[in-house]
Amino acid sequence: MATAIITGASQGIGACIAVRLAKDGYNIAINHFPSDSDLANAENVAQQCRDLGVEAELFPANVADYAQCENMTKAVKERFGTIDALVNNAGITKDGLMVRMPEEQYDAVIAVNQKSVFHMLKLVGAVMMRQRHGRIVSLASVAGLYGNPGQINYAASKAAIIGMTKTAAKELGARNVTVNAVAPGFIKTPMTDALTEEQRSHMLELVAMKRYAQPEEVASVVSFLCSDDASYVTGQTIEISGGLMI
Ligand code: NAI
Repeated sequence: MATAIITGASQGIGACIAVRLAKDGYNIAINHFPSDSDLANAENVAQQCRDLGVEAELFPANVADYAQCENMTKAVKERFGTIDALVNNAGITKDGLMVRMPEEQYDAVIAVNQKSVFHMLKLVGAVMMRQRHGRIVSLASVAGLYGNPGQINYAASKAAIIGMTKTAAKELGARNVTVNAVAPGFIKTPMTDALTEEQRSHMLELVAMKRYAQPEEVASVVSFLCSDDASYVTGQTIEISGGLMI
């Protein structure tokens, strides 16, 4: 049976993607940040996957740390035998206006959102090259496409993912590994629950569909990109934004 690894899958969009790929028949490797609360949430997600009849296991690792990603990739390969799909989902925000942003605040977001994607593309990409098949999907954002005030660190990390996706697609394409990104707009998760009412209503003004998305509406696009139906789609960034900026 095929195996998918999802980073940052203890809550929000990542948890939803894990359950959706379990429904699609993947065994699920759930990466979560090594903290007690993430562990408890991740265990819950694993149980939801097992209830769907697949195997699911937890792999704690801080994806900003290369050595932890290396150990995790080895452990997943040993446990499941193959790694057929990788979803780079883990991400954080540390918003602030550019002129006031301390350097550490910029670097912290780049480390978790961008560097982690390099770690996982390199490590799991090597496994998939040897297998001669694989599906990789990374979570970018509309902030990476259009920019967003107060998010210079986040926008930089998400724009980088789009360039990294195209590069990895070119390097891995001949080995039957597809590499794509999705760029969600405004999705209802703990990350966006933290926004102010003013920020929310401003966002909605720009959305053609005049509503937020549910995380399931991101998971369904990731599911498609991880399926056989998307066998000739690579290097793409699919916007899931309800028509933001159209
Ligand atoms: P969330 O905050 O609900 O979940 C993020 C997950 O990543 C958590 O499980 C967290 O523990 C994990 N994580 C954070 N740092 C980590 C690390 N160093 N190592 C391992 N795991 C780590 O966020 P949400 O909304 O589910 O976002 C998921 C992805 O989708 C992120 O990459 C985010 O940037 C992206 N996204 C979200 C949007 C939204 O509206 N919610 C819009 C566009 C993109």
